[in-house]
Amino acid sequence: MTDKSANQMWGGRFAAGPDAIMEAINASIGFDKRMAAQDIAGSRAHAAMLAETGVISDSDAEAIREGLLTVLSEIESGDFAFSTALEDIHMNVEARLKEIIGEPAGRLHTGRSRNDQVATDFKLWVRDQLDAAETGLLALIGALLEQAEAGADWVMPGFTHLQTAQPVTWGHHMLAYVEMFGRDLSRVRDARARMNECPLGAAALAGTSFPIDRHMTAKALGFDRPSANSLDAVSDRDFALDFLNCASICAMHLSRFAEELVIWSSAQFRFVILSDRFSTGSSIMPQKKNPDAAELIRAKVGRIFGANTALMMVMKGLPLAYSKDMQEDKEQVFDAADNWMLALAAMTGMVSDMSANREALAAAAGAGFSTATDLADWLVRVLGLPFRDAHHVTGSLVALAEKKGCDLPDLTLEDMKSVHADITEDVFAVLGVENSVNSRVSYGGTAPSGVRLQVERWKKALK
Ligand code: ARG
Repeated sequence: MTDKSANQMWGGRFAAGPDAIMEAINASIGFDKRMAAQDIAGSRAHAAMLAETGVISDSDAEAIREGLLTVLSEIESGDFAFSTALEDIHMNVEARLKEIIGEPAGRLHTGRSRNDQVATDFKLWVRDQLDAAETGLLALIGALLEQAEAGADWVMPGFTHLQTAQPVTWGHHMLAYVEMFGRDLSRVRDARARMNECPLGAAALAGTSFPIDRHMTAKALGFDRPSANSLDAVSDRDFALDFLNCASICAMHLSRFAEELVIWSSAQFRFVILSDRFSTGSSIMPQKKNPDAAELIRAKVGRIFGANTALMMVMKGLPLAYSKDMQEDKEQVFDAADNWMLALAAMTGMVSDMSANREALAAAAGAGFSTATDLADWLVRVLGLPFRDAHHVTGSLVALAEKKGCDLPDLTLEDMKSVHADITEDVFAVLGVENSVNSRVSYGGTAPSGVRLQVERWKKALK
């Protein structure tokens, strides 16, 4: 006789129940209850297949189906009593099913194991998150495209080393992020296509002797096909790592943009005005309007990268096939997913609501000798100087302007001629920032015409 406290699912060979500490370290129900809907969907597909293939009777399958729907509604309405003693979501659901329908519940676990079950549930969960990420990215890209279109010809300084480099357009800067988030979108789609193979029916590790139809369950759950190797199916967590990689790279992009918004919204820059809806005040300094959402987005990358690293470390060195280590996969992914979706939504809100301070952007665009390259290019194009010489002459003119405390367009023609005698009045035409950006018509360049072209290209691609 086994001890009454031994586990009802696997207690057959046990004389005593687990120590409380054993139960605490072993249980995953505290977090894997988030996969309840996926677990029940997987079980329903499995039961229908078992009936179809004659492994269980139609009446048992019907009882299981009805019972699982009851369990699902209990969980959804918050009436379900989760039990730590039952370890995880799989055993919690099955035990409750047994209470509701009795003996047929025990037939559900034919031809499967918790190993293929958890892999299936988790894949379904991650797949939903990839779909949510796709939706979130499309919304963010849409908001950026609106900014880009509105400000296709608004001038602003472009930076390298965070030093003024050359004038660019607001639209061009927004489109740089469209490219980044567009790559994130394509990564998400790649990951989804790659992961969409169904582990269910791989059973514990070797497959099963029951005449199951894995193609049927795969199809019912929206997978493209069943996974082709049972050992791999139960021990693969690449799909979760792919997800975390997508999340990490996207979070890195989000943090770069967030950093720019923090800088741009400061009193020193005043490039953007963030909306009240996405800012906070200070409890002591009445004048403050803080870019908290941007700062938190900037920080989220830490935990998302952390989740990625943590799961890599969990998986490294694990022998085939399933090991309990793999139960440590979920909390990291859940946390990363929640925070990625939140960061995407917050960034989309900020981008939709923010307004560019066109005057401040234009004033900054002309400061810091930003058209020095245009001047050097003019010396090459009009006077025929080698670029290296033109660079040197321009450098001297910048030094002269710096000494006089003025910008390049404020130098007189005499000033110009004192450095290079052949310079003519015409040079002043290229020193304006509008001219500078309008001239950068090379493909992918900052000219407003190029920005409008790319906005159209993206709109078409996303349709
Ligand atoms: N709770 C487990 C997990 O999340 C389910 C699989 C348990 N399998 C086993 N052989 N003990 O990984």
